[in-house]
Amino acid sequence: MAVVPTEPVSIVIFGGSGDLSKRKLVPALYELHLEGHLAPATLIVAYARTGESDETYRAEMKAAVAEFARIKPLDEEKWAAFESRLFFFRGDLTVPKHLADLKTRIETLEKERNAPGNRLFYLAIPPSAISPVVKNLGDAGFVYPVDGGPWSRLIVEKPFGRDLKSAQTLNEEISQVFRERQTFRIDHYLGKETTQNILVFRLGNGIFEPLWNGRYVDHVQITVAESIGVEGRGRFYEEAGILRDIIQNHVLQLLCLVAMEPPVAFEPNAVRDEKVKVLKAVRPQTPAEILMDTVRGQYGPGAVDGKPVPGYRSEMNVHPMSLRETYAAWKVHVENWRWAGVPFYLRAGKRMAKRVTEIAITFKTPPIAMFRRAGVTQQAPNVLVLRIQPDEGIFLTFGAKVPGAVSKIDPVTMDFRYSQYFGGSQPEAYERLLLDAIHGNSTLFARRDEVEAAWELVTPLLETWRENPPSDHPNYEAGTWGPEAAVALMARDGRRWRRP
Ligand code: BG6
Repeated sequence: MAVVPTEPVSIVIFGGSGDLSKRKLVPALYELHLEGHLAPATLIVAYARTGESDETYRAEMKAAVAEFARIKPLDEEKWAAFESRLFFFRGDLTVPKHLADLKTRIETLEKERNAPGNRLFYLAIPPSAISPVVKNLGDAGFVYPVDGGPWSRLIVEKPFGRDLKSAQTLNEEISQVFRERQTFRIDHYLGKETTQNILVFRLGNGIFEPLWNGRYVDHVQITVAESIGVEGRGRFYEEAGILRDIIQNHVLQLLCLVAMEPPVAFEPNAVRDEKVKVLKAVRPQTPAEILMDTVRGQYGPGAVDGKPVPGYRSEMNVHPMSLRETYAAWKVHVENWRWAGVPFYLRAGKRMAKRVTEIAITFKTPPIAMFRRAGVTQQAPNVLVLRIQPDEGIFLTFGAKVPGAVSKIDPVTMDFRYSQYFGGSQPEAYERLLLDAIHGNSTLFARRDEVEAAWELVTPLLETWRENPPSDHPNYEAGTWGPEAAVALMARDGRRWRRP
């Protein structure tokens, strides 16, 4: 199918020289350019405090794209066409005059290209800078108040606040300048192909949804495990911890997609209405329950892929006695008609044995042990695994008779792998999300009430944990599957974590 380019838009990246811009945003825009999605008059203007000129910025981004873009190697001719869209503007986010100058520059560039003046602002900046920048954008007259003419939209990176109160304040401040339909809160997990496939798998097929409930499902495990540590982000981790960094957003988003009811339409508000309902249905926990149903961990020294790695407390900018968590496990109950009695076990960890994100749905075993007399006393349950990354795919295990005269049932696997069926590399999450934001489609972005509902769940954990500091950190070795207490959390329920 031929690609129809988007409307021309000026994409302004605040924090244009940062890590996210280099690794994700500019490479994603380059891919969109290669695939013909960007209109000829589309511009990309990077705004940052340090940097020199368009030329130096282009050279810096060329190296970044060569390293991080999905499509390799870099094609010189295509790069030349792309870089003619790329501009740099040096300024201080807190100085209104600089934003006014930026506006003049953008207007000149737009006039030269006969562009209509649509603007997409991307805030890839520290959380504390978001409110002042949004206010200054409003004051500088950057944001069109009415519909009908050129449009302006805002993309905000996570972390979106650090607890319920700060998220509410941030939402309130943003809403003074941008309306909800102009506000795109990004969670890049929603842009992953395999995440998008969760609803397609459930609702685009006839055979799974009838089983998708507490009558057939025993429990669900959602795992976001990373083998990397905090990767030079010690300062951020000391502030955030993994509960804020990964559970509040990525993991709860996966929970919503697995647990939600079918929306009335595949349209932004209908999808997000159902996601919010899941968050609202999660049973609130008392501090005592939180201490029972959660586990915190912090990695000590260990080895990953056979190489020794330092413990969290020895990472740069981390306090030598830090109590910050780099692992969290949490048992939640979604108390609604569909999921009553089905526990969802969530976990995320840095420096785990391997990198894997997956959702595993364990089904109930048959009501009677039919093959007991033949000596088969225990049968492994059926498990359906939605592998988000890497080795993207879907796997279903079931019992099969081992050929031979002795009755034996072994678990075997049916598997679907993206790479086998669709070949090549999957589009990056940021490609899809940037494109959707340019089109004004917010289905894969978090709505205001959704972000707040997620914080409403996570904030009591933050508070209970703060009031009850851990006494055992570090409590897992780098390169393992996390603390013993997490094993015990499952064992209490007669279950085990999967070792993907
Ligand atoms: C980010 C977190 O949101 O997601 C990082 O801040 C984490 O700590 C990253 O490493 C994981 O993303 P992905 O796409 O590599 O799974």
